[in-house]
Amino acid sequence: MTQPTAQSIEDITQKALVELAGFETTEQLDQWRVTYLGRRGELTTILRGLSQLDLNDRRLIGALGNQAKTTLEESLASRTQGMSETRLARAASEERIDVTLPGRPIVTGGLHPTTQIIREICGAFAGMGFSVIEGPEVEWDHYNFEMLNIPSGHPARDMWNTLWVDYRDEQGQQPMLLRTHTSPMQARVMESMEPPVRVIVPGKCYRYEATDATHEWHFYQVEGLAVDEGITFADLKGTLFEFAKRMFGDERKVRFRCDYFPFVEPGVDMSIDCFACQGDGQGCRICRDSGWIEIMGAGMVHPKVLAGVGYDTEKYTGFAFGLGPERIAMLKYGIDDIRHFYTNDLRFLRQF
Ligand code: DAH
Repeated sequence: MTQPTAQSIEDITQKALVELAGFETTEQLDQWRVTYLGRRGELTTILRGLSQLDLNDRRLIGALGNQAKTTLEESLASRTQGMSETRLARAASEERIDVTLPGRPIVTGGLHPTTQIIREICGAFAGMGFSVIEGPEVEWDHYNFEMLNIPSGHPARDMWNTLWVDYRDEQGQQPMLLRTHTSPMQARVMESMEPPVRVIVPGKCYRYEATDATHEWHFYQVEGLAVDEGITFADLKGTLFEFAKRMFGDERKVRFRCDYFPFVEPGVDMSIDCFACQGDGQGCRICRDSGWIEIMGAGMVHPKVLAGVGYDTEKYTGFAFGLGPERIAMLKYGIDDIRHFYTNDLRFLRQF
């Protein structure tokens, strides 16, 4: 290794600065940095030889070396800046780019109103100790109907206009369908665990139905299920009342009326007093003059459903409920046609 001298440092510095002055591109600058200042660069190599000098020389030459290094680094920085300014100026004059124009705005997306409302619903129940899970949209007759106390041939099947999948098993049966509700997850969840069960299941459902302002052939549902020792109708009422207040305001009242769903007994439909007219009803568009708005079906889980998954019906009871998030969003935001949720019209979507 050659010993560094004041002369060799000066030579390299001069050579480097002359080269630098002649450059036109940033690639050249990069290459130059590697050549002189890189780990195996010329200046670096020279400085590595310092160790061979005696102490006095080492101090002197070392200082010169460091000075040279700073000079080269500063020259590189100012050349880099100068080059980008030149480039902008050239672009401005030759290519007629107006660099003073504001940038193009970045278009940010947003969450679909249905997604937002589903998150809000799940959030309300999560706060009461429910876990959120999802299930398959293509389902077996077994889960969609049989396990929910709806045997084949039972007239209750008419409550769900079903889209069957074009598939036949060995017996010539058509056992596969697009789920008509999220309720099949009740049986799937209970089969997979022992009580206590507290779940909420959001998901897409499908029905063979003509569409109009309040009907879609595909839509979302949110199912809920709680099973444990000693659960009563009071738990159902308390939980759903609390949910109604969280979604629609603290001053809400609720009303339960008898209704029929094969998988619950007793079954109810739950309404809230109209938040638009405060339950008055007179000329109200939202509640159609009634003062009440139906928001979901619910009930105590039928013993046959519990027995079907092998639960001890003497020990366990539970409640279940199902609601339509699009309907909740329609009520909450005064949307008059469910089809808006699926036409992807940005004028509609941008409002949320
Ligand atoms: N699955 C029912 C439907 O689609 C809604 C429903 C009603 C779900 C009552 C429930 C329930 O869990 O208890 O019409």
